[in-house]
Amino acid sequence: MAHDFLVNTAQPKKLIYDELLVQAAALVEGENDKLANCCNLVAALKQAFDFWWVGIYYVKGHELVLGPFQGPVACTRISHGKGVCGTAWQRKEVIVVDDVDTFPGHIACSSLSKSEIVVPLFRDGEVIAVLDIDSNKYADFDNTDVFYLSKLASLFEKNT
Ligand code: SME
Repeated sequence: MAHDFLVNTAQPKKLIYDELLVQAAALVEGENDKLANCCNLVAALKQAFDFWWVGIYYVKGHELVLGPFQGPVACTRISHGKGVCGTAWQRKEVIVVDDVDTFPGHIACSSLSKSEIVVPLFRDGEVIAVLDIDSNKYADFDNTDVFYLSKLASLFEKNT
């Protein structure tokens, strides 16, 4: 089913997230195709915040493999423990990086990416994917992003 997706982007980040959470749930309700739902969830995040890059990497064996994304072309495979994504998978925790050049082993898919947040997605205590968001501004992610993206993670988890 098609939905209008309209978030007022000219308001504080917290309020954008509040709107986004409601609309994102509506966006995937009644659709059982998980890939289609993840594509729309990623697009909703991109549309709401105009982040530089938003996407999912799925755990496949010992690697993360690129899934639905919005933004410039990206690397397709990331090993366990490598880069910000592989490290978030290994540590099983959210990682916020204010300046990607200071993160040891950061994988630069785009030279314009300046800061990054990676949120692991879980099933039965195991990481099944990661949500990766890049910004072209330094220090663009804070505790508000951690809080709301961790809530949004449950929608991604249901659709992974
Ligand atoms: N920077 C990530 C790689 C993925 S791209 O940002 C899309 C990393 O270091 O894991």
